[in-house]
Formats: sequence, C-alpha cells, structure tokens
Amino acid sequence: MKFDIIEEDINNKEEYHCIVLGVFEPYILSSFAEKIDRISKRYLNILYHTNKFEGKIGQSLLLSHIPHLQQYKHILLIGCGNEQELDEYYFQKIIEKTALILREIRDEKILFSLTQLHLIGKDIYWKISQSIHIIETSIYSFNFFKKDRVVYNNFLKKISFIVDKESNISSCQRAVKHGVALTSGIKVAKDIANMPPNICTPLYLSEKLIQLSQKYDNTTASLINHRMMKEMGMNAYWAVGQGAENTPIMSIIQYDGNTDTKTNPIVLIGKGVTFDSGGLSIKPSYRLDEMKFDMCGAAAVYGTIYAAIQLALPLKIIGVLACCENLIHSRSFRPGDILTTLSGKTVEVLNTDAEGRLILCDVLTYVERFNPDVVIDVATLTGACEIALGNYFTGLISNQILLSKELVTASKQASDPVWCLPLEKNACKKQLESNFADISNDGGRAGGTITAGYFLSLFANKYHWAHLDIAGTAWKKGRDKGATGRPIAMLLQFLINRSHRPQ
Ligand code: BES
Ligand code: MN
Ligand code: ZN
Repeated sequence: MKFDIIEEDINNKEEYHCIVLGVFEPYILSSFAEKIDRISKRYLNILYHTNKFEGKIGQSLLLSHIPHLQQYKHILLIGCGNEQELDEYYFQKIIEKTALILREIRDEKILFSLTQLHLIGKDIYWKISQSIHIIETSIYSFNFFKKDRVVYNNFLKKISFIVDKESNISSCQRAVKHGVALTSGIKVAKDIANMPPNICTPLYLSEKLIQLSQKYDNTTASLINHRMMKEMGMNAYWAVGQGAENTPIMSIIQYDGNTDTKTNPIVLIGKGVTFDSGGLSIKPSYRLDEMKFDMCGAAAVYGTIYAAIQLALPLKIIGVLACCENLIHSRSFRPGDILTTLSGKTVEVLNTDAEGRLILCDVLTYVERFNPDVVIDVATLTGACEIALGNYFTGLISNQILLSKELVTASKQASDPVWCLPLEKNACKKQLESNFADISNDGGRAGGTITAGYFLSLFANKYHWAHLDIAGTAWKKGRDKGATGRPIAMLLQFLINRSHRPQ
C-alpha cells in the first residue's frame, strides 16, 4: 500500500473513492468534516437527525451518494468520542476501527483526515507514523498456507493524509517515510515468525539473512555452523542444538551505512529458537505450538535491520540471528551436564528449558570481537516476564543507565512500551549458584526474568548492553494468534535517534 501527504488547501484534482472524517460526541464535526459539510450543503448535519450516530468511540457510518460530492463513492464518518478526552489510547482505537472498515469496504484510494485531530503531547509526525503502523497491522494476515486466501492489499491501494497548511510538511513526509519502512520491517518479521517450525528452521532463517544481504552493496552476511561453533568453543550454544536434526546456525549481517570506518557498530542479537520443546526438561503440551515463536527475537532483529536498510540510516549495524532448535533425542544435552562457555565460565545445566541464556551467553562473548558501541539482545527468554509485566510491556534490563534511558525514550516515541527491571547482583547471584560449576542456568521461579537477565550480564562486561525480554509481547494468543513484530518499532526509533546524534 502507498501513503502520501496532501496539503489541505490545494485544489486537488485527484479522485478518491472514500474520504474518512472524524466526528466527536455529540455529533460535533471535526474541522475537515465541517468543510465537507459545507460543500455538501449541510448534508452531514441533516444526517444527525436521521441516524443513531452520535460520534461515540467505536461508532461509524458509511455514506454514499453524497450531494455535491459525487467524486467520492463513500464518506466514512468515524466516532471519535469526547474531544477533550482524545488521547493516545483513543486515537489508536479510532485508527484501528477505521482500518478494519477500510479493509471491508475495499475502496482503493482513501483521503484520510483523522491525523488532523488534535491530541495533547502528540505531534503530526507521531499521528501519521502511528496511523500507517496501525493500518498496516490491521490489514496484515498470514495466509501462505490457505487455499482461499483474501489479500486485502489488492483492494486498498493508497491512503493520502490531509495536512493543514500550518503543518511542517517535511516532518509529515518523514513520518510517511519512517512509517512505511517500519511497517515493511514488521511485515517481513511477522511473516518469518508466523512460519511453521517445520519450515522456519535455522537454515531457513540463515537463507533469509543471506538473501537480504545480497540485495544491497553495503551489507554482508556470514554464517557460523555447528562445527565452527564447536571448534571455536561455543559449547553452550552448540549443546542446546545437540538433539536436533536441524543443526544450529548463527547468521550475521553487517550493514555499513556509515563511511566513517572508525565508528563502532551497534550490535543487535536475536534469540532464534525455531522450536522450544524444553528439551529433556520437557514442556507441558498445552499451547506448545506457540513455542515456534521462540525465534521472535531473531525475527525482530531481521525486521529492524530490514527497515534500517530501507531508510539508509548512517550507522554501522551488526545483526546476529542466534538460531537453533531445542528438541529431544538420545543426543540431547541433559540436566546435570556442565558446559564450558566461550567465555571460559562453566555452566551447570539444571534445566534444559532455560536454553535461551545458554545460546545467548556464547553470542554475547562472540560479539566482543566487533568492538561494539552497544549490544542489545532481544529474546523470548522467560515465561516469568509475561507474569511480571503482562502482554503490554517488554522487559528491559541494562548494565548502563544512559542506554536504558535512550531505549525508554525510543519506546515512548514509538508507542512500543518497555519497563525497566533491575540488574542487581545481590538479588540474583545466590539463586544461580552451582555446586559443581561456576554458575547454573536455572535461578528458580522467584524473579525468573531478573535472574535470567543477571545470567546474561555476566557475559556482557566488555560493552554497554541491554536485554529486551519479549516473552509477553512478541506474539498474541487466542483468536488472533500471531507474531506482533514487537519490539521493532522501539528498536528502529532507537536507531533513528542514534543516526541524528553527532558521532
Ligand atoms: N522460551 C521460553 C520462555 C517462554 C515461555 C516464553 C513461555 C514465552 C512463553 C524459555 O526458553 C523458557 O522455557 N524459559 C524457562 C526458564 C526456566 C526453566 C528457568 C521458563 O520461563 O519457564
Ligand atoms: Mn525454554
Ligand atoms: Zn526458549
């Protein structure tokens, strides 16, 4: 789908099939709706007396054959609630509702005025990029495996955002550019994450990354297979994949959008467990299919870099997809095994289901060679994170306060919520003690997310590091089960912010 910006006072000759107008309660027309009303000789006002449409949130009214406005097939009135109460939350609801209707009516070209609505603390950049994000999200469906698939995008072709003359046009255009890049990154990430685990294997993910790198001159990809891992001493990562026919592959993409050779890269690491059975510490079978989403960290890193490349951000970024499968086999690693990590630290495996940290600890050591400016790992690491923070907040743990602040800022800008959790030796060290090795991989039920984060921090002492636990936010359960693409929005915003920063 295409998006563009239309200045309100231009005498626009372009034809639209549908124009979307906001109406507040109790039937107060938004400023653009008011103008349309005048052209239609008060048709919209007359309507008030014949319909039950008052402008409540969730209400909508689709009109056709509007007097003096024959160039529009439809006018869609959207209820926007109480004008004074319009905030981020309601705005998102309104756009979502609109997108669902647009999806059904199947008009091709839409004139969209809801981004003109005023809401406190949010500028036009936010309103436009959010709208693109919400519309694309509502229209997305994963139907590769459905015989009778409906592709909504075939109908909806273009949405033009009307902006008033006083708006900063360049910031509107930037919002479109960023919104489009973001949603394209989210889409590719969701497509990968929703793929079934018999197709989305470590090899599949490595091929995706290689294909991406081949499309651009300033990207290169390399792979570390299971033999190289073993040779190098990445024994913890290697051990997790020991029981799987689909062997572990760590794929690395380097994007060089910066001509200055001296700058250090931003390293993004994604947990890419393409299926997590728990291993010999097997998981219960309830909702086990969802453990195909244990690669959502890797998908998010892929999607973020995909978007960063589209925007040609002037940064050096390295993406690492840490892929493997945690399965059950006579060759599987066992509870009780002691693994010597790449760092030299030994880990006693108390639970083969705490595999994410075993993979990531070796990758955290591996990336030291890049001399990173900052390292961010993204992982569906602990079920405890969903218990602690629910499905709204991604968990954030970092060894540097400025980096946490930067990420929290990006998260707020992008409306992709995170919540900081503590990194505190006194709270965690004891729980990870082992009788036989330097540490164990299972800190028990209490504070499961912070002990996992603490575990990782022991391998991230050479650089500034942040860890994003997306166990509660990476996918939705139930009727609209599927990957969400989180936290690509905040990561891309972080990168955009970094690219404005003087080096
Ligand atoms: N991938 C899971 C975490 C997970 C579980 C994410 C459910 C989303 C939903 C991870 O590998 C895992 O199994 N973690 C264990 C750790 C425990 C054994 C210390 C967990 O959360 O139970
Ligand atoms: Mn697990
Ligand atoms: Zn896992």
